[in-house]
Amino acid sequence: MKLGVFTSGGDAPGMNAAIRAVVRSAYHHKYGVVAILSGYEGMLKGDYMPLDLRSVANLIHRGGTFIKTARSQDFLQAARRKDAFDKLKQEGIDALICIGGDGSFKGALALHEEQGMPVIGIPGTIDNDIYGTDHTIGFDTAVNTALEAIDRIRDTANSHSRLFIVEVMGRNSGYIAMDVGIAGGAQDIFIPEEANNIDACIQSLKDSRSRGKQYSILVSAEGQKPGRAYDLCEAIKKNTGIDAKVCILGHIQRGGSPSARDRVLASAMGAYAVDALSKGYQHHMAGVQNGQMTLIDLKEAISKRPRMRQDKLQLARILSV
Ligand code: F6P
Repeated sequence: MKLGVFTSGGDAPGMNAAIRAVVRSAYHHKYGVVAILSGYEGMLKGDYMPLDLRSVANLIHRGGTFIKTARSQDFLQAARRKDAFDKLKQEGIDALICIGGDGSFKGALALHEEQGMPVIGIPGTIDNDIYGTDHTIGFDTAVNTALEAIDRIRDTANSHSRLFIVEVMGRNSGYIAMDVGIAGGAQDIFIPEEANNIDACIQSLKDSRSRGKQYSILVSAEGQKPGRAYDLCEAIKKNTGIDAKVCILGHIQRGGSPSARDRVLASAMGAYAVDALSKGYQHHMAGVQNGQMTLIDLKEAISKRPRMRQDKLQLARILSV
């Protein structure tokens, strides 16, 4: 069997570790591996790079993805997917491993349903917004990167007795914000999963100031678009007169060396994906649930959304004073 592996969508720390695990597990199964460069864009162009054991050496600690990634508009068209499939067949590729998020999985599933190409997904996104897995590759590193930034901001917030609003990534989900907010000691956390309770936040700021608290940090998920923190800043200024400083962490959260957790997760998922193909699975995603590796149908993974844990929401509420 010859496998095609590719990364797609936003890069995430640990993607290289996953590719390494795919190549090494494929070697164990005596399969060949070809990298498809720049995700679906490379698939459409027939841009390939053979991968052997040596080509994945010295990569496990590196952020980003050495086989590049892209967000492809072209691949949304069925006719272009057929072109891509024809190119894959010319190259002799029998099955695909797609490392990415839900948008990438939609493309992979369409390719499977339309052309019969076996595909296994590996959830790689800092957002942790994929149904069927407790964690996605890159989430842990992104949370730690954002946390390091918040710890630094705390020093200056404290020195100047200022209010800071730190905006983290996550697209439509608040998983990064929730963990960063709890771990960073935020006074309030704004996530898309819950309606913005600005009034409660303002009250809490007023109460804490009257108790003598001089600085605060609020964490906000970006929501639909980066810059949401500025709206919060304006509302707070209007209602309290407090001038908050906004800090948007942005793409800094996507880079850097993957954490140990992400490397272990990526290694386990890479190996599990190859194993799944060897057992005949054709439209599944490797996930981890309660510490156990698991496979879930791609259709289910892309049609459902993970739910924000109620215990975390509750914890954040109790600690927001
Ligand atoms: O999905 C990962 C992510 O970093 C999101 O958190 C963010 O909204 C988006 O990608 C940004 O995408 P881009 O790098 O294409 O601007």
